[in-house]
Amino acid sequence: MKGVILAGGTGSRLQPLTRLMNKHLLPVGKYPMVCYGIDRLRRGGITDILLVISKQSAGLYTDFLGSGAAFGVSLTYKIQEKAGGIAEALELAEGFIAPGERFVVLLGDNLFMDDLKPYVDGYLRQPKGTAKVLLKPVDDARRYGVPVFDAHDSAWIAYIEEKPQHPKNGYCVTGIYMYDTAVFDMIRRVSPSQRGELEITDVNNIYAKDRRLSYDVLKGWWSDAGTFQSLREAGEKLKDMLP
Ligand code: DAU
Repeated sequence: MKGVILAGGTGSRLQPLTRLMNKHLLPVGKYPMVCYGIDRLRRGGITDILLVISKQSAGLYTDFLGSGAAFGVSLTYKIQEKAGGIAEALELAEGFIAPGERFVVLLGDNLFMDDLKPYVDGYLRQPKGTAKVLLKPVDDARRYGVPVFDAHDSAWIAYIEEKPQHPKNGYCVTGIYMYDTAVFDMIRRVSPSQRGELEITDVNNIYAKDRRLSYDVLKGWWSDAGTFQSLREAGEKLKDMLP
């Protein structure tokens, strides 16, 4: 199984620092943010990893991470030219994943403590052509994708509302997704949103409509480190995770 970390985007909420370097290289404790996603994948048994990065700071990624050998993984890099959305960044993984193969996608700013293995094992038991997302209860779900559960079979998500004004529950869809190569056909079916991006929520909603989007709920701490406050908190929470 392979892993994909999406670390493109502009990081506008973390300016001015992100004018200097890409958000996923900002320090979280002793390491750049991106190292924590690499560590979660490695510990989950996934060592063949594609890193989708923007042009900004591309050299810094290779300076620090190199081939990945020092981190116990093998890294492949792809450049997303413009921040065209999470689904657009994911589309760049198409050649990296073998036909029919399953893989895990992490948004590079999602930091978490759970071991991915049990969730991945559960996903591998799901039928071909289905997907899985991981959820987490949050204080303010309005900032996230919020799942609405299937009224007849709560093992499935009926649809996801992206950043709703009035969330139907307190769960957020985290940036931890599991797919097989069917996802690339789904991406081709979505159009840019009002903000001009290919939205991952639109892709996930194609699965959800056909009762093909399952979920698990993270047990441990999770954050998307999009603000200075969350960066500080993450540094504190994760200080013992890496040597
Ligand atoms: O963190 C979880 C949330 O992430 C989900 O609840 C939402 O459903 C999902 O849409 C996403 O929302 P955000 O507004 O937080 O996404 P953001 O634009 O901040 O991008 C998150 C990550 O995705 C970021 O670390 C880099 C990557 N990304 C983003 C864009 C727009 C790319 O690699 N390329 C892109 O073009």
